[in-house]
Amino acid sequence: MFDKNQLGRDFKWGVTISAFQNEGAAGVDDKGKSIWDTFTEDYENIKNADVIGDASAFYEKYEDDIILTKQLGFNVFRFSIGWSRILPDGIGQINPKGIDFYNKVINCCIENGLTPWITLYHWDLPQKLEDEGGWTNRSSIQWFTNYVEICVRHFKDRVTNWVVMNEPMTFVGLGYFMGYHAPQKNGVLNFLKAAHHVTLSMAEGGRVIRKLQAKANIGVALSCSLVKPINKLYKNKKAAKRMEAMLNRFFIEPLLGMGYPMDVMPSLAFIKTIFQKGDEERMKFDFDYIGLQYYFRVVAKHSLTPIVLFADEVSPLERKSNLNTMNLDYHPKGMYKLLSLYHKRYPMIKSIIITESGVCLPDHHIDNEVHDSDRKNYHKKMIKQVLKAKKDDIPVNGYFVWTLIDNFEWKEGFEPRFGLVYNDFESQKRTIKESGLWFQKFLKKAPDPFRGFNYKR
Ligand code: BGC
Repeated sequence: MFDKNQLGRDFKWGVTISAFQNEGAAGVDDKGKSIWDTFTEDYENIKNADVIGDASAFYEKYEDDIILTKQLGFNVFRFSIGWSRILPDGIGQINPKGIDFYNKVINCCIENGLTPWITLYHWDLPQKLEDEGGWTNRSSIQWFTNYVEICVRHFKDRVTNWVVMNEPMTFVGLGYFMGYHAPQKNGVLNFLKAAHHVTLSMAEGGRVIRKLQAKANIGVALSCSLVKPINKLYKNKKAAKRMEAMLNRFFIEPLLGMGYPMDVMPSLAFIKTIFQKGDEERMKFDFDYIGLQYYFRVVAKHSLTPIVLFADEVSPLERKSNLNTMNLDYHPKGMYKLLSLYHKRYPMIKSIIITESGVCLPDHHIDNEVHDSDRKNYHKKMIKQVLKAKKDDIPVNGYFVWTLIDNFEWKEGFEPRFGLVYNDFESQKRTIKESGLWFQKFLKKAPDPFRGFNYKR
């Protein structure tokens, strides 16, 4: 295995977690409700009828988790702020206890030599704002920028790295188009409205940060996939192009000043009916970096629905693929191809950070150890692909693992485990897995990676 320094001494090695998936403490310290609190209240919505409870108890155990991150050798801790912890109603009254909590998290990172890297929005919209239409309401742009301003004002003395939003295509697609995730809205109109307001909010959010903090490092975290057609038929090749545009181009292109990808999806022009004067310009923002998150590849075929897309995914179950425990086709070798694609298509991107990378695969318990060699090998392969890209002068400058510790996987509940650290959700006891021990060795923090230990406070 190569040396981590081949990626450069300034390369950022991090872990990523998110507020809703890790914190727990839903109603504690005056936190307001988010759309995910509402959605999970009906546990029929969640696989195996899992009840989120305290998730992985980050609200209580943040120090343990930050210390663990340090022990594993990482230098960045990426976490998200729960909007409704700071503003229980989404706008209006600030909750000082919410500010206190994130101050403690930030300070703890710094005390442990970790760079805090803050995601401002990881899908948990305050319920009060959803009651007003959520992202389909154009006022969401003001709601969001007001919230961003509050966060930046409170934390900018110690935080310079910001992710304005996490995976807009996932939360808008699944939440406002398919009705699969919170807030369970569907239909093309909801989708286009939400998508356009989210695009504007990302750009405006970026501007708010830039205005308040000249030295800020501002990015967005975008999901991306390798897409190919099911066969060489013209209609399927065209469908794959549309699918690829939807998954990879939809949000980045307006932000870069290229507009929405109407070249391959002409009916997307309908989105212009919700534009207001000046939107074309307002959608642009000069981000310092783009975060990429690649979890699976997609095979596409032509379909009569949904309109605009006219394409469907061929279920990975129907083909010979590497399935993770969420039945998604994971393919680490695609990382290099994707990095090359983004670099070639968008030469103006100054820096790319892999802001999340991970896989849910089974863990094997042997005595007191947790073995996950497949996950370990997955990360090794991914990092090799990143190195290959770096050698081609693609400006990729960080690799953040999704995720530090097993947590709550949205609609899939607790079943899929992505962590480098195993969590027993009953006792909240943490055990470093083989993959975590491998990172520890790779990042040069511990001499013997096979001397596993159970981490307890
Ligand atoms: C999201 C995470 C999620 C992970 C694994 C990413 O799309 O940002 O919240 O847990 O994928 O599915």
